[in-house]
Amino acid sequence: MTQPSSITVIVDGREVQVPAGTSAIDAVFQAGRDVPYFCSQQYLSPVGACRMCLVEAGTPRKNPDGSWILDEQGNKKIFYFPKPMASCTLGASDGMVIKTLSEGVKKAQAGMMEFTLINHPLDCPTCDKGGACELQDRAFEYGYGVSRFQFDRRHAEKHYELSEFVVLDQERCIHCKRCVRYFEEVPNQEVLDFIERGGHTFIDTIEGGLPSNFSGNITDICPVGALLDNVARFRGRNWEYDHTATTCTACSVGCSITVDARNGRLERIVGRDNPEVNEQWLCDGGRFGHPYVDDGRLTQPLIKVNGQFRPATWEEAIAAIRTGLDGVSAQQMGFFTRADITLEEGIALEAFVKQVGTPNVDHAPRHGVVVNAPAATLLDVATADAIVVIGADLSEEAPVVDLRVQEMLKGGVLPLQYDFGTAIADLRLTERMHRYRERLAVFYPTTTRMHGVADISAEMNSIQVLEHLSSVISGQYAGGAIEEAAALLKNAKKPVIILGSDVLKGGQIGLDIAAHIALSSNAKVLPIPADSNGVGLSRLEIVPQQGADLSLLGTLKAALVSRLTSIPEDFSGFLVVHETQLTEVAKRAHVVLPALTNYEKRGTTVNLEGRLLKLEPAAISSGESADLITALGAVAEALSLKAPIRGQRSAQKALKDRFGVDVADLPAQGKIVDLGRQYNARTSKYHRPEVGMWKETMLRSERLREKLGGSFNAAVAD
Ligand code: SF4
Ligand code: SF4
Ligand code: FES
Repeated sequence: MTQPSSITVIVDGREVQVPAGTSAIDAVFQAGRDVPYFCSQQYLSPVGACRMCLVEAGTPRKNPDGSWILDEQGNKKIFYFPKPMASCTLGASDGMVIKTLSEGVKKAQAGMMEFTLINHPLDCPTCDKGGACELQDRAFEYGYGVSRFQFDRRHAEKHYELSEFVVLDQERCIHCKRCVRYFEEVPNQEVLDFIERGGHTFIDTIEGGLPSNFSGNITDICPVGALLDNVARFRGRNWEYDHTATTCTACSVGCSITVDARNGRLERIVGRDNPEVNEQWLCDGGRFGHPYVDDGRLTQPLIKVNGQFRPATWEEAIAAIRTGLDGVSAQQMGFFTRADITLEEGIALEAFVKQVGTPNVDHAPRHGVVVNAPAATLLDVATADAIVVIGADLSEEAPVVDLRVQEMLKGGVLPLQYDFGTAIADLRLTERMHRYRERLAVFYPTTTRMHGVADISAEMNSIQVLEHLSSVISGQYAGGAIEEAAALLKNAKKPVIILGSDVLKGGQIGLDIAAHIALSSNAKVLPIPADSNGVGLSRLEIVPQQGADLSLLGTLKAALVSRLTSIPEDFSGFLVVHETQLTEVAKRAHVVLPALTNYEKRGTTVNLEGRLLKLEPAAISSGESADLITALGAVAEALSLKAPIRGQRSAQKALKDRFGVDVADLPAQGKIVDLGRQYNARTSKYHRPEVGMWKETMLRSERLREKLGGSFNAAVAD
C-alpha cells in the first residue's frame, strides 16, 4: 500500500497530522478528542445518516493570486461552514480547523440526541445491549438528561426472529443503516433493507430469513439493541460477562474473537478487530457454533468396568491405563489427535512419541502436502488484482477468506490505520460500489456462492482445472473459462491462487501442478488446510512417516485418540480417548480423559497464512478437564515415564529452541513466521477435510440442533 501524503488539521486548538483522505471525525479521534456517532463504522461507507457527529469546521482559503487570505492578525483566515457539519462525511483538508467543544456544537449534538430518543422505547432494563449500548452511552454523555416529548412513542414489531441466529426489535432501531450497508458492502449480499419512510421506517429482510453465512456481524455493529444475538439472548447482562480475547479455531483462518463467559458457561462470541486477519468480521459458524461447549461436558475421567462407564479420579484412570498397556510394545501403540490442537500440545506429542519410541502418530484431518511457491497472506488476497480460486467452497471451508476476496472485488484498497492499529474509515467507499468481477475466476465441482460473483467460473473437477490451466500457461490451447483464467493470471501484477479441499484431498500431484502455474505466472498461493492448526502441526514430526496412520489403527493393540470424530471400525485394542463429550468414539474407549475445548486453552495456533496467533483460556467451568499435554503426562505416568514436556512453560521453551520464536510474546494481530520444513505423509480418507464443517460444529450442540432442525453427523467425508 502506498502511503498517502499527510495533512495538518487543528482540532480544538491541537495540531494533528493525518493522512490525506482522512475524514474529519477520524482527525478528531487522532487528536484524542471525542465526537458522538452512530452510523459511522470504520469498515463501511460513510452515509451521514444519524447526524450525531456534528462539529463546527472551517478551512483557510486562497486569493485568486494563490496567496492565503489573512485575518487582522496576519494569520490564515478560517472560513467556517455556515452550519454544524457531519464530521463522518466531511473530508479533512490541510489547515482545517475543527471545534468539538463549542456551545453551538454541544447544542446541535444534544438536539440530535433528543430527536433520536423521541421514538426509542424505554427498554434498557430488559435489553441485552444494556451496558454496552452506544445510544445509552452517548445519551448520557451528550444528551439533555430530560425528555420534553409528551406524546405516544412509535410502536413497531418486537422480538422478531430474522433468522435462527438474529432477533430484531424494530422499535429500538435508530435507522443508522449500518446493518443494510454491511450486507451490501462486506459479504456482498443484499438481504436487509429499510421499508416505508420517515418515522414509519423499519428494517426487514427482503426475502425472509437471513440467507448468509455472515449474518451475526450485524449484531456486533448495531449500535443499539435492535439486532441481537439470538443464541446468547437473555443469558447475561454485559457487565456480568468475563471477556477473554482469543482466537477462533473452527477453521484455519484464525479470526480474532472475544469469548464472553458467565457463571462458568460460554454464552457469547463477538468479533475482535484484527485488520490483518478478519478485520472485525466472523462467520456464523465461528460466532454461533459454541453452545456444544456446555452440552454434556465430561468433567472427570471415566473408566469402563463390565461394559459400563464409571466416574474416576485421574489416579484411577492412570492405573487403568497402566493395566491396559501392560504387555503392549511401543510398536503396537499409537497416538492420534485432531489437527486443531495448539502448537504447544503438538510439540509435547512429538517429544512424547519420540520418548516412547513409537512411529505410530498422526493428526487428522491432514494433507501431506507442500506447495513450492510463494505463500499469500490474507492481506495479499484483499489487495490482489486477480484471484483464481480452485477447488474451494470458500464460505464453507474458510469463510472469512470469502470476505477478503469481496474486498479485492471492491478495488483492493485497504483502510488506513490509526497508530493504535484499528482501521480509519475509508471515504472512498460508497454504497453499491463497483465490483471488479472480471478479476475473479472460480472453479469447483459444484456451484458455490463465489460462482455468482465471478465473471470467470466453471463447475469442474480441480485436477482437470489444474492440468488444463498448466497446459494453457505452457502455450497449449484449452479454451473457455480456463483460458480466461490463465490470461487473468498472466496479465495481473499481484495475482493470488487459492487452493481448497478439492485440490488438497488429491494429494501432492495437484499441488505440484499448482506450484508450476504459480511460478509461471508470478502468483502467490494460499492453500486452505482442513483444520485450524494444520499448518503448525505439519511442521512437527507428528505424521506417520514409517508407522501407522489413523486408517491403520486396526493393526495396533493400543491407542490414545484425542478429539477425533471418527476412527476405523476394525480397531479392537485398548483405547484411551481424550474428549470433551461422550461421543461415539469415546463410547468405544476403555478410559476416557476429559478434554478442554480450544476456548479453554492457553497456547498458540498457526493459521492458513502461517501466522502464529494466541489462544487464551476463557472463564469456562470444565471440572477436571485437561489439555493434551496433561493427558500425555497421564499416559507417561502409566508407562512409568516422565513426559519430556509437562506444561506450558516447557512447551514454550521447546518451541523457542526449535523454531526460534517466543510464542509467549506475540503481538495482538499475531505474527507470520516461517516455521521451516514441512513433514510429509500420504493422505488417507481419514485426513480429508470435512467440507461444511461450520454447520457440523453447530449441530454438535443440542440447543442449536433444535433451532436448525438437523442431526449431528460425525462421519468423516469419504
Ligand atoms: S437495526 Fe441497528 S444497525 Fe440496523 S439500522 Fe437499525 S439501529 Fe442501525
Ligand atoms: S472464518 Fe473460521 S476462524 Fe473465522 S470465525 Fe469463521 S470459523 Fe472462526
Ligand atoms: S456518524 Fe456522522 S452522521 Fe452518523
